[in-house]
Amino acid sequence: MVASALTTAPALAEDVEVLHWWTSGGEAAALNVLKGDLETQGIGWQDMPVAGGGGEAAMTVLRARVTSGNAPTAVQMLGFDILDWADQGALADLNSVAAEQGWDAVVPEALQAFAKVDGKWVSAPVNVHSTNWVWANKAVLDSNGIAVPTTWDEFAAAVDALSAAGVTPIAHGGQAWQDATVFDAVAMGALGPDGYKAAFIDLDEDALGGDAMKTAFERMEFIRANVDENFSGRDWNLATAMVINGEAGFQMMGDWAKGEFLGAGKTPGDDFLCFRFPGTENQVTFNADQFAMFDQGGTVSAEQAALASAILSPSFQSAFNVVKGSVPARTDVSDADFDACGKQGMKDLAAAAASGNLFGSMAHGHANPASIKNAMYDVITAHFNGEYDAETAVSELVDAVSIAK
Ligand code: GAL
Repeated sequence: MVASALTTAPALAEDVEVLHWWTSGGEAAALNVLKGDLETQGIGWQDMPVAGGGGEAAMTVLRARVTSGNAPTAVQMLGFDILDWADQGALADLNSVAAEQGWDAVVPEALQAFAKVDGKWVSAPVNVHSTNWVWANKAVLDSNGIAVPTTWDEFAAAVDALSAAGVTPIAHGGQAWQDATVFDAVAMGALGPDGYKAAFIDLDEDALGGDAMKTAFERMEFIRANVDENFSGRDWNLATAMVINGEAGFQMMGDWAKGEFLGAGKTPGDDFLCFRFPGTENQVTFNADQFAMFDQGGTVSAEQAALASAILSPSFQSAFNVVKGSVPARTDVSDADFDACGKQGMKDLAAAAASGNLFGSMAHGHANPASIKNAMYDVITAHFNGEYDAETAVSELVDAVSIAK
C-alpha cells in the first residue's frame, strides 16, 4: 500500500467516484454513513447516482462509461454482474486489503462466490439483503382483525378481508424488477426450496415448466387483482410509503423497504411488521450489494483500498446495515444495534445457510447472468400485465430461458 501510495497521486488528495442506485430516502441515509466514514479519512466523494431500483439503469450507464474509457472508481453491483466484469478483466485486485483485514475468514461462502474470482477478491461486500419479506402496516391489520399469515391461504384471506374493507391490500410498483421481486417470493412458496433451485439456479426445464410454476403464476394473478389502479410504473419506495401511511396493508419487497419505514420514524412491532412471505419461513433468497473497483491502471489505488477497507470494517458493517435494512456481510458482527427485523434477518440468514436453504435471488442477479434474468423478467412482467394466462406464461418462461441460455 505504501508503494502504491507513492507511485499514484498523493493518496488522500484523490476523490473516489462512486456509481450507485441508492437514491430513495432510506438508501441515501445509509449511503451517508459510508460518505461520512471516508470523509474522516480525508477522501472526497464524487457522487454518481443513477436512479432506478434494482440497478438496471445504473448498469446501462456503467457500460457506456467503460466503453468510452472512463470507468468510475467504484461501482455498486450485484452477483453475476460482478462475475461478468471480472471475467472481462475490468476489476482491480483487492487481495492486499482482503488479506490485511482477513476477509476470507469472516465473509460467508455464499458471498465469496460473487466477490472472488480465481482466488482474487474483486469486490467489497457491503451487506446481505433478502427478497422474501412482507412489510405490513400494523394498525391496518389490527383494525381489520388480521393476524400475520403463515400460509398462502391465510395470506389470500387477509388480502380479501382488506379488499372488503375498502383498503388497498397490496402496495406495488409495476416495474419489471419489482414484479420479479414479488415473483421470487411467490415462486419460492409455490415451488419449495428444491424447486426454486432447480428452476431458477439450475434452469431445469421440468421445474421451469411444471405445475408448481403454474401455481406461482396463478398466485401472481391474484396479487395483480389486489393492487391499486395506479400501480403501473410506481417506484418501490412510493409503494412502501403507501404501507407507511396506512393506504395499503402489505408490500412484498426486499428489506431495503425497512430503510423507508425507519426514515419515516416508524418502529418495527409497533407501527409496522416484517415477516417472511407465507410458506417461505425457512428460506432466504438473498442479494448482496458490493462495491467493485474498476482497474485504474494495474494496481488498486490508495482511495479504492481505503473505500474497500472502510466497507469491511465491523463498525461500518453495523452502522450502515442498521440504517439500510440489510444485515452485515461479515459473520462476526454483533446484532446488538439492530432492531427486531434486523435481528430476525441475521438469525434467518445464519439458519438458512446452515440448513441449505439460502439461495441467490433470481430477481436481483444472484441466480443467473443478466441475459437469463432479463428473459425471465420479460415473461413475468408480460404475464403480470395480462398478456398471457398462467399456462401460457409457463411455456413462455421455458422458451425464453432456452433461447437466452
Ligand atoms: C437492490 C439493491 C438494494 C436496493 C434495491 C432497491 O437491487 O440490492 O440495495 O437498493 O435494489 O433500489
